[in-house]
Amino acid sequence: MHPSLLLGLLAGTALAGTIRRPGRPRPQAPTAETLCPIVFDGRPDSSLEPLDFDDWNTSPFNPDYVKGAGLPWSSILQFPDISPPARFDDPTYQKPFEVTINDSSIFNNQRGFRRAGLQFQGDTNRDSPGSSGIKTIHFSLKWDAQRPLNLSHEYLNVWHETADYSANQFNFQAGAILGQNSLARDTTLRVYYSRGSEPLRSVTNALTNNNAGEGQYQVGILRKPTGTSDVVNSGYHQRNLNEGLIYGSVFVEDGEGGCVSL
Ligand SMILES: *[C@@H]1O[C@H](CO)[C@@H](O)[C@H](O)[C@H]1NC(C)=O
Ligand SMILES: *[C@@H]1O[C@H](CO)[C@@H](O)[C@H](O)[C@H]1NC(C)=O
Repeated sequence: MHPSLLLGLLAGTALAGTIRRPGRPRPQAPTAETLCPIVFDGRPDSSLEPLDFDDWNTSPFNPDYVKGAGLPWSSILQFPDISPPARFDDPTYQKPFEVTINDSSIFNNQRGFRRAGLQFQGDTNRDSPGSSGIKTIHFSLKWDAQRPLNLSHEYLNVWHETADYSANQFNFQAGAILGQNSLARDTTLRVYYSRGSEPLRSVTNALTNNNAGEGQYQVGILRKPTGTSDVVNSGYHQRNLNEGLIYGSVFVEDGEGGCVSL
């Protein structure tokens, strides 16, 4: 089954992504170079071991958030072999990672969600370098047939949450969307997209968007329940969840002067 990925995006953030569909062979493609200053780099060094993702000294991400109580990132992340590599990954020293969720993925007693979301180290909730100017978040997604998402549910996969946790400036989502964003619009967001390892192409104009409120990026899975009006605290998920999504080429670059790596 092919994931139908929906964009519900908002942000002076631009988005970039490459999506690989399951079950289609692809030619090997060379890794592309990044062109702009890197603000946050979420491309793990190949030498990192799972336990390194629990340690502030070694993880590219915040080891403490946003995940099920008592579950360390070393148990949540998987490191599958992916070929060809994502467009901006150099497999000689960088590797992709898979974020997984199961029935224990309950953060902060939010019993309606199953979630595991990575935040970049240095992406502080206030005064973050990722929340000002023009920024582009890059990510490449791959479906895991062993841990498929259930697209009858709504998922958040890449997003930016305001510092007061009251809203998200943009969401990259999958599955059946429960509601629509109705944020005010006064700034811009632009989306670039490609399949496989092809160069990214702009697929939107600069869209009006409300990027106010600072906050942080999150990369991973937030699975919403069905059958409730209180998605945070209640609702239905099937039992024995075993779901995951593979990420590569995750980084945020500075788009000052119109710079973007394609
Ligand atoms: C969920 O996965 C974590 C990490 O592998 C594991 O420790 C936990 O027991 C799992 N929970 C369930 C309910 O399977
Ligand atoms: C997928 O989710 C729907 C809605 O919660 C549920 O009815 C269905 O049983 C789930 N599918 C699987 C394979 O668990």
